[in-house]
Amino acid sequence: MRDTKRPMKAKNDSRQSDVAPITRTGAKSKNDRSGAGEKTLADLFEHALKDIYYAEKKIYKTLPTMIKAAHDPILREGLSSHRDETATQIERLAHIFELLGKRAKAEKCDAIDGILEESGGLLEDFGNTRTGDAAIIFSCQAVEHYEITRYGSMHTYATELRMSEIADLLKQTLDEEKAADQKLSQVAISRVNYAAEG
Ligand SMILES: [Fe+2]
Ligand SMILES: [Fe+2]
Repeated sequence: MRDTKRPMKAKNDSRQSDVAPITRTGAKSKNDRSGAGEKTLADLFEHALKDIYYAEKKIYKTLPTMIKAAHDPILREGLSSHRDETATQIERLAHIFELLGKRAKAEKCDAIDGILEESGGLLEDFGNTRTGDAAIIFSCQAVEHYEITRYGSMHTYATELRMSEIADLLKQTLDEEKAADQKLSQVAISRVNYAAEG
């Protein structure tokens, strides 16, 4: 088990054979990574963890605006229950930091900032129209897909780094994000899009 309070360490890097030798002139070829070995998959994992910690907190703060703006009761209920789930996901991330023996720290994520900024603009443009709920789902699904890519990558990294307990925690969240996305699709198809049609 590697989920103890010790720093992460990547497995031996089998890609070393991919590193091109220094050319005869002494200049390094463009595939030569021999001078860039300081950053490992464990470092990338830690970056992703801080990044998603920032994103989840920001999503948690933004969801009430969406819930308030939603008209469809099923959509409102779905968003509310996903906000509760988001609170659990934030705790899960804090627990992962703890398992790594690190202080929970958020790092600004430009990707989620962009998605949420766009969703604010969409709400201004469509909020009080019959297309408002469709626009909310449009934005929320962008958020869910962002989360799915991040948790998907992180789950893979944790598995490769043999951090099984952490991988399991990430998988739980990944499954919740996929379920939230599917639920939004269902609400869109069965209720909201129809109501928004001109
Ligand atoms: Fe989430
Ligand atoms: Fe989510």
